Amino acid sequence: MQDATYELLKRQILRFLDLDLEAYKQRQMRRRLDTWVEQNGKDQDEQVFVTGLGTRSELLKDLRDTLTINVTEFFRDQAQWNELEQKVLPELLAGSSRLKIWSAGCSSGDEPYSVAMLLDEAGRGTTSSLLATDLDPGSLQKAQAGGPYTADALKNVGATRRASYFRDVDGRFQVVDVLRRRVEFKPLNLLKDSFGSGYDLILCRNVTIYFDPPVKAALTRRFYEALKPGGYLFIGATEALLGAEGDGFTRTNGNFYQRGELAVARTPRVARAA
Ligand SMILES: C[S@@+](CC[C@H](N)C(=O)[O-])C[C@H]1O[C@@H](n2cnc3c(N)ncnc32)[C@H](O)[C@@H]1O
Repeated sequence: MQDATYELLKRQILRFLDLDLEAYKQRQMRRRLDTWVEQNGKDQDEQVFVTGLGTRSELLKDLRDTLTINVTEFFRDQAQWNELEQKVLPELLAGSSRLKIWSAGCSSGDEPYSVAMLLDEAGRGTTSSLLATDLDPGSLQKAQAGGPYTADALKNVGATRRASYFRDVDGRFQVVDVLRRRVEFKPLNLLKDSFGSGYDLILCRNVTIYFDPPVKAALTRRFYEALKPGGYLFIGATEALLGAEGDGFTRTNGNFYQRGELAVARTPRVARAA
């Protein structure tokens, strides 16, 4: 599409979907939107198509789905979950039986429900709090309803957990109510909404990979502030936090970063670089 159409589309997305695309990696975003406009507006002048989007709710929903990329599954990247189960959670639970945990960018709930299973097995499901947030209302609706999930989404869930935490409904899987009630789901846009503090563990996995590097760095600093000293940030298997050590984190394992015990004096990154 023409540059002017792309700029118009970004304004339409901000207006109708409340999503500021300036914070996302531009090249990826442009490619994705080029394809979307090509597929959905093929019989029309593209400028006219983009201008008329505001009144086409089905198309707007589809556009939101295209932009949010909500691919997920239970215990995604299993080796990291073993680390969580065997090292990180036991360490945190040794310090407190009431953990405060947040899954940021939780998509359809597979990730926070995976944490809920681990807490339940550790006997701390009822005392700990588990918040899960996302900006996509469709994903949150499925998460809140506890599914149903496909067999593929459960491919890393063993038979015992399947039997304890899911009901098979005609070949699709519904999370049992006792687990569902342990997670509080809420809409939250990481780029503009404020968020709480005092977390023992924040999971933000496969979300910031779409963000522009300075936006991602600023968000990492906000996660730091939101964690308790000694708390952990758990990121996606293919991700890394550049400069995390300078920001007061210690990388304890490939995808776990621990906030230092004492808050470090923090200088804005721009000033440091100058
Ligand atoms: C690929 S999914 C990751 C789901 C899960 N964390 C995982 O790793 O399996 C990315 C999620 O991030 C959400 N997301 C993207 N931008 C966001 C933002 N600005 N604020 C909150 N959530 C966002 C999307 O809606 C989507 O559900």
